Amino acid sequence: MDARDRLIVALDVPSVKDAESMVTRLGNSVSFYKFGYQLAFAGGIPFAAGLIAAGKQVFLDLKLHDIGNTVTKGVESVAQMGATFLTVHAYPQTMRAAVEGTRGSKLKILAVTVLTSYDESDMKAAGYNLGVSELVARRAEQARDIGINGLVCSPEEAANLRGIVGNNLSLVTPGIRPAGAAAGDQKRIMTPAKAIAAGADYLVVGRPIVEAADPKAAADAIVAEIAEAKK
Ligand code: C5P
Repeated sequence: MDARDRLIVALDVPSVKDAESMVTRLGNSVSFYKFGYQLAFAGGIPFAAGLIAAGKQVFLDLKLHDIGNTVTKGVESVAQMGATFLTVHAYPQTMRAAVEGTRGSKLKILAVTVLTSYDESDMKAAGYNLGVSELVARRAEQARDIGINGLVCSPEEAANLRGIVGNNLSLVTPGIRPAGAAAGDQKRIMTPAKAIAAGADYLVVGRPIVEAADPKAAADAIVAEIAEAKK
């Protein structure tokens, strides 16, 4: 795989206008874009479809979770749109329904095991008896057994999860910061090279590119770092 296709830029901007100008600035340096709630609910879905038509890959980070029939039908619509990645919460019923919805398409389902903003006290408040790491491990095993295509995880979790899921699942890691970049609200960060060395297949990068003075140069530097780490 081309190093460039391992970089996914998070289009965390408020409007399609802002997204358009960022995509134009990034040009051929970036081939893969992630859409979250903010842009998706501000007209981002038709814009994403346009990007796909223009030859880019799209990751819809919409973290679906609903009754099985609703998830399957929703996933079928995303598959028809031509998206490459879609996230769901890693509940067994939801994961099975999502995999069913991808049939006959190139769409790949990524599971979110436990949100990285959750700690032990949040787990307890939500009614879980398991700790974060136990639940992450259990859900990773379930994702593997159900035929999920990949997991979203922090780069720190990547090596451990690789041991659980083997090489058939892709590991997609946010929390990436090039040396010297501001961490922002991310608590567990890694450089692009270290994340690749830890076993990540795709890196999700938002602010270090989108808020850079020269986003294209920032993206090129990260792609070069990925290419070097893959040698
Ligand atoms: O700006 P930054 O590089 O921190 O952006 C990371 C992106 O990855 C954001 O879109 C964020 O929502 C997403 N993400 C994350 N941590 C997770 C899951 C998704 O940072 N556990």
